[in-house]
Amino acid sequence: MSNELQIVKTADGSNTIFNPQVGENYHSKHGALQESKHVFLNSGLQYFLESASVKFPIETPVSILEVGFGTGLNFLLSADMCVEKGIRLDYTGIEAYPLTKEMIGQTGYEQYVSAELWQQFNAKYPDALKGEVNIGANCQLQIADRQLLNFQSPRQYDIIYFDAFAVSYQPEMWNEAAIAHTIQYLKPGGVFVTYAITGNLKRAVKALGCKVEKAPGAPGKREMLRAVKQNR
Ligand SMILES: C[S@@+](CC[C@H](N)C(=O)[O-])C[C@H]1O[C@@H](n2cnc3c(N)ncnc32)[C@H](O)[C@@H]1O
Repeated sequence: MSNELQIVKTADGSNTIFNPQVGENYHSKHGALQESKHVFLNSGLQYFLESASVKFPIETPVSILEVGFGTGLNFLLSADMCVEKGIRLDYTGIEAYPLTKEMIGQTGYEQYVSAELWQQFNAKYPDALKGEVNIGANCQLQIADRQLLNFQSPRQYDIIYFDAFAVSYQPEMWNEAAIAHTIQYLKPGGVFVTYAITGNLKRAVKALGCKVEKAPGAPGKREMLRAVKQNR
């Protein structure tokens, strides 16, 4: 079988990418778009905005760190929501194996966001791998082209989207060291979301000072994990 990435249709009609080397899709086969909207947009960004003690729109942007930037679908949907709500967005992705612009262009994700956002993202994507770029007037994006454990930053973020390949395919992304490395970048009061939930993950996140919640999962999964970092 070829090792080339393949575009694959999921159950809600949206596309994902299949990585034959990993043996796994970038998104749920039950629906890439609905997974991204449910887990990251609604259970992450929307939840944070509703629960935040700070009222938006504000001068300070909402900051998001994503582990596993991939196609940028979570970024695009988040940026689109922020533009609609008049909120500034400061987004950092971590991606060890960045996709080419051409591959991202084949996803068809332009149909889910404004034409202007898509055009800006398309124009700036390669530069975002080298440093911070502006996407429109209200959004900044940078993608750290490295392995999660090699990512270092003095910053903490309001929200973390943890979107690694499943634990059965990439267990090293879900062990205590990887989770601790990630959670150090979450602000007190910040929200961590991921599409999966396991006993080990719950214990690891709790031990790092977070309040853990089993939230309803995206189609195909009963539950997902959401955690809020407590003030110490
Ligand atoms: C489930 S996919 C993420 C899908 C992505 N959020 C999207 O919407 O397209 C997992 C991603 O993690 C990346 N990845 C794999 N190992 C990594 C590592 N050690 N550090 C950072 N990213 C990694 C993969 O290349 C892939 O893009």
